Amino acid sequence: QPRLFSGMQPSADSLHAGNYIGALLQWRDLQATHEAIFCVVDLHAITVAQDPKLLREQTRRTAAQYIAAGIDPTLSTLFVQSHVPAHTELAWILNTITGFGEASRMTQFKDKSAKQGSDFTSVGLFTYPILMAADILLYGTELVPVGDDQKQHVELTRDLAARFNSRFGDTFVIPKPFILAESARIYDLQNPSSKMSKSATTDAGIIWMLDEPSKTAKKIKSAVTDDDREVRFDRELKPGVSNLLTIMSAFTGTPMPELVASFEGKGYGDLKKTVADVVVAEFDPVRARTLELLDDPAELDRILATNADRAEALARPILEKVYDRIGLLPRR
Ligand code: TYM
Repeated sequence: QPRLFSGMQPSADSLHAGNYIGALLQWRDLQATHEAIFCVVDLHAITVAQDPKLLREQTRRTAAQYIAAGIDPTLSTLFVQSHVPAHTELAWILNTITGFGEASRMTQFKDKSAKQGSDFTSVGLFTYPILMAADILLYGTELVPVGDDQKQHVELTRDLAARFNSRFGDTFVIPKPFILAESARIYDLQNPSSKMSKSATTDAGIIWMLDEPSKTAKKIKSAVTDDDREVRFDRELKPGVSNLLTIMSAFTGTPMPELVASFEGKGYGDLKKTVADVVVAEFDPVRARTLELLDDPAELDRILATNADRAEALARPILEKVYDRIGLLPRR
């Protein structure tokens, strides 16, 4: 089976509908046909300030949400990035073959650092995509299922892999991004021109997986739409309505034209009510299962430990090959 790798940052108490639709839904399906590796990327999360106590808890919560959403930790490898030191070790090597200009062109870095100001922007945030490349390349990954916002990082990963291979001989598999066009980008409910994001300035536009159902329903019913009355998919003219339709289509599997047809003669109130019901029905069991898993942190930690052992066993030989290729003297 082809290898697949993906990850999420444990940078909030809950994952959101963007993470779920853009990534988790694909992960769940692809694990049946791929040798899948799913990581909670805590070392990425600390590239911006995190509260140490919260980080530990959020790392467990993120892992619990993967499992609750259908990732099977006996079938797939589900582990915490910092538990496998080979990630940072390979990242260092890849740092040495990445151009400063090349890294400077990463749009996510440019956006985030522009918001923070350069004195508050860490070098870690700058080299973040290189650690991500290490995550992917360490496992001979063929497929990287992500949302649209990670595409440039996967492209950098491909460039680095090809560069290393041509300088030092065939070592890395060149991975491909796996991005579903229809659901690659979910937007903020209050501000449907920007993506739903953990770091949004207000909470009102984010559908959190672990929110109370009543809160989720209320947020969806207050979503920004437009002055028109017609339910129709038009990303340009009707970004709010199109976003709600995208969410619903992802959850129900109904193709867009069919979905739009089902709202003929109906208004925005009907649309919001139906979307709220669908989202609550999907997230409610995930939320319940997550809370159940979090009730037994020792068991969760045990699962993460055995999975880290499996990940380590896959990663180590590739790292050793890399060290050998670049001429590092082995320790005898
Ligand atoms: P992160 O934690 O920001 O997001 C996790 C996944 O969710 C997707 N996503 C979205 N998809 C659709 N609409 C949205 N509004 C939305 N917001 C987030 C992201 O595209 C991502 O797939 N750098 C990565 C984590 C990472 C990684 C990796 C991923 C580290 N190493 C190796 C793949 C392979 C990140 O910050 O994702």
